Amino acid sequence: GVLGGSFLVASGAGLSACATVDTVGKVDFTRPLLIPPLADSRTDSAGRRVFDLHARRGRRDFGFGGPTRTWGFNGDHLGPTLRATRGEQVMVNVVNELDEDTSVHWHGMHLPARMDGGPHQPVRPGATWSPTWTINQPAATLWYHPHPHGHTKEHVARGLAGLFILDDDDPHQRRLPHDYGVDDIPLVVQDVDVDKTELRAKNTGNQLLVNGTYGPYLTITTDRVRLRLLNAAVSRTFAFGLADERPVALVATDGGLLDHPVTVTRIRLSPGERAEIVVPVQAGERVVLRSFPPQTGRGFDGGKDQFDVLELRAAARLRRTGAIPERFTAIPRLNPATAVVNRDFQLTGTNINGEQMDMDRIDAVVEQGATEIWTVRNTDGQRHNFHVHDVQFQVLSVDGDEPPPELRGWKDTVFLPPKSEVRIILRFADYADPDMPYMYHCHLLMHEDDGMMGQFVVVAPGQSAGRVSGHDHG
Ligand code: C2O
Ligand code: CU
Repeated sequence: GVLGGSFLVASGAGLSACATVDTVGKVDFTRPLLIPPLADSRTDSAGRRVFDLHARRGRRDFGFGGPTRTWGFNGDHLGPTLRATRGEQVMVNVVNELDEDTSVHWHGMHLPARMDGGPHQPVRPGATWSPTWTINQPAATLWYHPHPHGHTKEHVARGLAGLFILDDDDPHQRRLPHDYGVDDIPLVVQDVDVDKTELRAKNTGNQLLVNGTYGPYLTITTDRVRLRLLNAAVSRTFAFGLADERPVALVATDGGLLDHPVTVTRIRLSPGERAEIVVPVQAGERVVLRSFPPQTGRGFDGGKDQFDVLELRAAARLRRTGAIPERFTAIPRLNPATAVVNRDFQLTGTNINGEQMDMDRIDAVVEQGATEIWTVRNTDGQRHNFHVHDVQFQVLSVDGDEPPPELRGWKDTVFLPPKSEVRIILRFADYADPDMPYMYHCHLLMHEDDGMMGQFVVVAPGQSAGRVSGHDHG
């Protein structure tokens, strides 16, 4: 195995398996960045926007010395970018062409639990699952990936993941770069483990892929470029920034735009988290997007965990895009005084509050309309994070302090360094269903698969949880 900050480097025709090196400055950026295609859609007679996703096996020559066996949606590896607008009703036909169960979860989406695509909605081999819901949240960069009970790591690591971009009519969005694939660039970042012929499900990888491109460069034609960053890795935390540490504008996090752009030189993303940054570019320059060792507080850091991610190559002449707004629409703050329930979640080993995921056990019953405060503690010596399905939440405090600016927007996943405590506030506005749970869990996928996950149901006021079973759904 290859540990920590070391990546194998490709040499000549194949992998040089003998040397593990820090890749800073050693990646040859020789391949144009692949841009996931926008998914085709059609409007059905009910007025719904309909997409099709086929999960299948494939082969892709990444440049590792031969074709690699992969999994993908509608293609060999990863999936197309789904895109829909607030207020639209969507339907996705998920067709499982694998020879084992999978599922597709809409990470960050506010939607009924039966449409959520978690472990209670397995799609059997050969079957089609067609969830439908109305987009009911602000513009944001969401994503989709399988969530089969105990096998999420394997399905994501082999290539089953894609972006789901939501739009709305907030005029500030139009004043940010928004030409998909031109000045608005999706970046699905994963470290993968390549065993000559296949992508393997390992906790940490030996190669870095961006949109499935190994050693990518991107030609830039505008003086500002918006990067939509997704950490789609199994367990690795990245801290993205430009190699020259130039300031960039952080404009959005998991659930959409911040109150205002925040100037940063780095943005830390643990698995599942997203961030949108706007990078200023000079004509003719080349600059590398890097992942720096992620600072995790209290003396823990990422060691030599540093990788070059993508080379930005600016054209000799750049189209001007205009300054980005100084303020966006104010985010309505959830008021702690209105919270009716406090819950505590302790993350240790592969347990939450001392228990492992049980498909038949409901861990929390939430009343529709309730605002709750959840205190999440990582009491371990290792990193975790915490993801909640259905809602976007707000961070109230990190280790008792005010959250930093990058944690003041809507979030669905939050990093928990070793020995840390994060308090979040959540409002469960819709979609009561006593019989079908949503998940909360650590998004380090091996932890999730090993049981660091729990279930909650949203019920109508006064209602109790129904009988939820992992065995009679599907
Ligand atoms: Cu992205 Cu429950 O997961
Ligand atoms: Cu974890």
